[in-house]
This record gives sequence, C-alpha cells and structure tokens, in this order.
Amino acid sequence: MLAAYVAATSPDDPLSVLQVGERPAPEVPEGWARVRLKAASLNHHDLFSLRGVGLPEDRLPMILGTDGAGIDDDGNEVIVHSVISDPAWRGDETLDPKRSLLSELHQGTLADEVVVPRRNLVPKPAGLSWEEAACLPTAWLTAYRMLFTQAQLGPGSTVLVQGAGGGVATALTALGKAAGLRMWVTGRDPAKRARALELGAEQAFESGARLPERVDAVMETVGAATWTHSLRSLRPGGLVVISGATSGFNPKATELNRIFFLQLRVVGSTMGTRDELERLARFLLSSGVRPTIDTVLPLEEARKGFERLEAGDVVGKVVLTRP
Ligand SMILES: NC(=O)c1ccc[n+]([C@@H]2O[C@H](COP(=O)([O-])OP(=O)(O)OC[C@H]3O[C@@H](n4cnc5c(N)ncnc54)[C@H](OP(=O)(O)O)[C@@H]3O)[C@@H](O)[C@H]2O)c1
Repeated sequence: MLAAYVAATSPDDPLSVLQVGERPAPEVPEGWARVRLKAASLNHHDLFSLRGVGLPEDRLPMILGTDGAGIDDDGNEVIVHSVISDPAWRGDETLDPKRSLLSELHQGTLADEVVVPRRNLVPKPAGLSWEEAACLPTAWLTAYRMLFTQAQLGPGSTVLVQGAGGGVATALTALGKAAGLRMWVTGRDPAKRARALELGAEQAFESGARLPERVDAVMETVGAATWTHSLRSLRPGGLVVISGATSGFNPKATELNRIFFLQLRVVGSTMGTRDELERLARFLLSSGVRPTIDTVLPLEEARKGFERLEAGDVVGKVVLTRP
C-alpha cells in the first residue's frame, strides 16, 4: 500500500528522510480494527518524527501520521483516536504512562490503511467532510482539552493564543470563540493575524506586543520564543496551558519569581481522550465551527505538504487524501 514513512531519521534535515512509497499492508491483531483511510492530516509531530524525536532507530521504518478518518471493515465511517493506551489501562488514556500516539510505536495514518484498537474508533458525523474529520484527532483534540478540560474558563474570559497560524492555534481560536470566550491572538505574520481575526479572534497582535490588559489565560504551543510574553501577559492568579514548544524547550527566562508572586498556574496538556474526541465532533456540529484547512493534496504529493509545514507557511491544517 502507499504510505509516507521514515526509514532513517535526520535531526537537521527532516525532509531529506521523508519517503513516499510502498509499505506492507498491516495485519489486524485480535481486538483491533482496520481503517481504509479517506483523509489524514499533517501535524508538527510528523516533522519531529522525521527528526527522530521520540522515534528511536529500532522502530523504523515507521509510517507517519497521527490524524485520520476513513471506513472500517464493517463499512462504518470513523475518526481514528490516536492515543493508544495499554489494554489493561482504565480511565483517561492520556494519563497512561504506557500510552503512545500512532506513528510512535504503531504504524501511522499517512497510508492507505491503519490498524488501531477497536475502542479507538469514533463515529464520524455525516455533517463533517472526510477532510474536516481528519483534522480532529490531534490538533483540534489538543485544543479542545486545553480550553475546556484544563482551563475550564467561563464565557467572557479573555484568552491569549500564541502563534496565530498553527494547527492547534487556529483550533483554539475557533473553538474558544464558539464557546463565548474573548480570544486574543499573537502571530509573526500580518496575513496570519488577519486570518485569525476571520476565525473569530477579537484582536490580533504582533508576537511579543504589549497587550491592552492582562488576560485570564494563555494557550501556549510556541514555547521558548513566546514563554516570557505568556507569563507577563497573565493577570494575578491566571493560567497558562502548555501543550507544545515548537520554537524550543528552554526559554531564556523561566519567570519563576512571577509564577509564585502572582500565583500563576502552569498546566500541561497532551492530546485528549476518546470521549473528548466524540464531544469535540458533536461541538463542531452544534456550533457550525469547522477546521481551517490550508491545503488538500493527494497522499502521493505528501512532500509538498511537509514543505509547507516546515516553512511555517500554513494557516490551519494540511490534509492528504485517498480516492
Ligand atoms: N501535547 C500534545 O498533545 C500536542 C498535540 C498537538 C501539537 N502539539 C505541539 O504543539 C506545537 C504546535 O503544533 P501544530 O501542529 O499546531 O504546529 P504548526 O501547525 O506547524 O504551527 C506552528 C506554530 O508555531 C508558531 N511558531 C513557530 N516558530 C515560532 C517562532 N520562532 N516564534 C513564534 N512562533 C513560532 C507558529 O506561529 P505563527 O503563526 O506566528 O507563525 C505556529 O503557531 C508543536 O510543537 C506540536 O508538537 C502537542
């Protein structure tokens, strides 16, 4: 079957090790299900995998991809929940110390087929297109959990999203607006800031700009480049939820004094549960919100999509389709 995969990683030149070609179709273990993918979307995670982050040599070759939607062997239209927990684990899958994401231990979704534990299938609502459904399991689920499970903000709260154009950032902006939050956004590029306003942001600022007032919460995925600004933008008692650090893990100033003196809260967040994915899909239907899709390409042209993602050119998601 056709797949986008990595057979040898490269920390410095990830696109040089991206391969698009034939891989063996997967076996279906007992209790697992095969999904013929109709669409899959790219995430920054896929670039990290090409660099070898979280993907040791002994797991290669590995098919990339943590997001996908397709049809199972019984003909059901499904969204794939990408967090694979231990069969013995009960409760919130994201808290299982043995959990992994598709493409870390098990082959990923940038392919004709993927196999996952049967419990990882979520019904795809008919009101979502394949492309839209394929955006949900990673970036959109992460955004949903950050806002609604971790931050638990009431309507009217002011929330700053760092990094206007990212997959997670655009999801945060649209979901927050739909839930009655006042969404403010920062971004490096005027065109991406303009798009954020179209998505429902009330105001969009240049990265690092002084804000008109302090905010109740900051949603962080950019990391080192924006961390200081995030903590300085919070009101006393405010909350920063962090789920990624694209620009680096070690900010120049950790702002420990600010954290204790202003009694700030720093909360980590990773992916989301199967139940949260199901609720996210329902929220999209009831709110009318849809994922922002930057580009749709056939899987054969995966390289073009990775190039856009690596260049940081995207607003929203890059989706790869199968006939
Ligand atoms: N913990 C989890 O479960 C989880 C799930 C999903 C994603 N993540 C992580 O979250 C991060 C974002 O993922 P994504 O898929 O949304 O990535 P993406 O679509 O590639 O977006 C990249 C983002 O980073 C910003 N950015 C990059 N370099 C920057 C810099 N030097 N200064 C300021 N902003 C910079 C961009 O902002 P501009 O608009 O300003 O260009 C954009 O918002 C990644 O690190 C990813 O690994 C974690």
